[in-house]
Amino acid sequence: MAFYEKLGNLVLINNMIRLFKNLLFILSWSILFSCGSKEQTKSTTAETEQTPFMDGKTIYQRECVLCHGEAGDKGVAGSANLTQSILSLDERVYVITNGRGIMQPFKSKLTPGEIEAVARYTQELKK
Ligand code: HEC
Repeated sequence: MAFYEKLGNLVLINNMIRLFKNLLFILSWSILFSCGSKEQTKSTTAETEQTPFMDGKTIYQRECVLCHGEAGDKGVAGSANLTQSILSLDERVYVITNGRGIMQPFKSKLTPGEIEAVARYTQELKK
């Protein structure tokens, strides 16, 4: 009788230890996870603070390539040939901001900083 009682206690203790280990495991993971995600939000905010706008090339490839082409001379639907444009930076900024003809205005899509960045990039397309 005493022997079985002891055995029962042992099994009980064993189970409790296992349960405790599992809890510890889950706890440590949840701590790791919560720290990790906090760290991540911190670093992304830091990144956006460091780069207030995307670089001109990235914006150009996302918004402008469709009509003007990678090199600026695709000319889809009468798109101006950017490799031959004689517009100044200010004039480019104006066209990109307010649009012209088929080209839609970008003032609601891009920030003034982004518009200037992409305008500068179009100057680099000049041959
Ligand atoms: C829907 C097609 C389309 C998209 C997208 C587009 N453009 Fe244009 N773009 C045009 C057309 C068409 C013209 C000529 C407009 C006119 O003179 O009537 C033009 C003209 C221009 C001009 C004036 C060039 C000159 O010498 O007169 C600049 C600069 C320009 N686009 C830059 C951009 C930039 C930068 C983007 C991306 C942010 C962009 N465009 C996106 C179609 C487009």
